[in-house]
Amino acid sequence: MGLLYICMNPMCASVSPGYQVREANREREPAGCEKQQKCEEMQQRVYGAVMHVNRGNPAGQEVLVDSWPEFKTVLTRPRREVVQDPSDYFTNLYTTFYRDEDTCQALLENSRAVDWGQAFQILGLQDGVYETIRDIARARGLEMETYPYRLLLHPDPPAMPQYRPDKGLRLAPVSPAHATLLNDTWKFGGNTWSLRYLCLLIRHFPSACLLGPEGTPISWCLTDPVAALTHGYTLPEHRGQHYLRSVVGMLAAQLHARGFPVYTGVLPHNEPSLHSLQRLGFRILPGVFYRLIVRPGFTQSRPASALDSGQDPAPSSGERRRTQ
Ligand SMILES: CC(C)(COP(=O)(O)OP(=O)(O)OC[C@H]1O[C@@H](n2cnc3c(N)ncnc32)[C@H](O)[C@@H]1OP(=O)(O)O)[C@@H](O)C(=O)NCCC(=O)NCCS
Repeated sequence: MGLLYICMNPMCASVSPGYQVREANREREPAGCEKQQKCEEMQQRVYGAVMHVNRGNPAGQEVLVDSWPEFKTVLTRPRREVVQDPSDYFTNLYTTFYRDEDTCQALLENSRAVDWGQAFQILGLQDGVYETIRDIARARGLEMETYPYRLLLHPDPPAMPQYRPDKGLRLAPVSPAHATLLNDTWKFGGNTWSLRYLCLLIRHFPSACLLGPEGTPISWCLTDPVAALTHGYTLPEHRGQHYLRSVVGMLAAQLHARGFPVYTGVLPHNEPSLHSLQRLGFRILPGVFYRLIVRPGFTQSRPASALDSGQDPAPSSGERRRTQ
């Protein structure tokens, strides 16, 4: 199968011979009432990733399609030079969307599209993605972790209730100085890869937290390279006081103002989170959304304390064109 790398930088002249990128930008980032429909069509994760690529590309992602402009499958992945550590499955993040399952399967099997020699994670909602990745991983003798999520989307972010913080508390963006706290409390955290990834999210993507009187976060939420809400958390001693609501309200307003959909994935048994988000007006979408982590071996990351939390290896932007 032929692969095309789409350069989304508006300063760049062409995608592949003969295709104008400015047109691609317009087509892939619809405005106004079309947005919701396009968003559902392309699926939030791929859509969010492409929008970030279009807006400075802070996570250094690139977009592949099987053909253009009538594509059947889209794959987003980090540019090769971004993944400096082959075990770092946080940075090595793929998303996929298809209109034709066979084309998607062929793309995922293509080692020029997916580097199966490196650890990576891939996000996908549609039938067959989980099975395809599982079968390829098995055939290659690779370890795979599976996280099935419920997908929640807010249909009308401006209508989300905004909660004023209690006296003595204030809302603010998350600071890089809080990265270690966030890493220590994250279900997926506790290592150097996760700390580096959280630093990237804090520095380059919208976030919100509720600061206590001493200036320490007591509740927070980040967004990731696919524009999904991630690592929503309230310190255990402060739970049940609806602190997450004000945090998510602030973050949703920021995302909406920038034209992003407001959505997230929640593990099915996480009743407090599902309950809290539904109270804010999020709707559970049908289907299972998978986060699949594939690893070539059992390489362990160094403990997070070994990494300076100020370090941020991700490039800010820039482009490298490739036709595959
Ligand atoms: C999920 C979480 C962020 C909620 O934060 P919070 O600030 O306590 O949020 P809220 O105060 O709004 O409480 C959540 C709601 O769930 C309810 N709840 C608590 N435990 C519950 C349970 N076991 N089953 C159902 N509902 C529950 C609370 O009563 C509250 O409901 P209410 O709005 O009707 O009063 C917090 O529990 C947390 O940090 N959990 C660990 C990390 C996590 O799971 N993050 C989400 C990842 S998607």
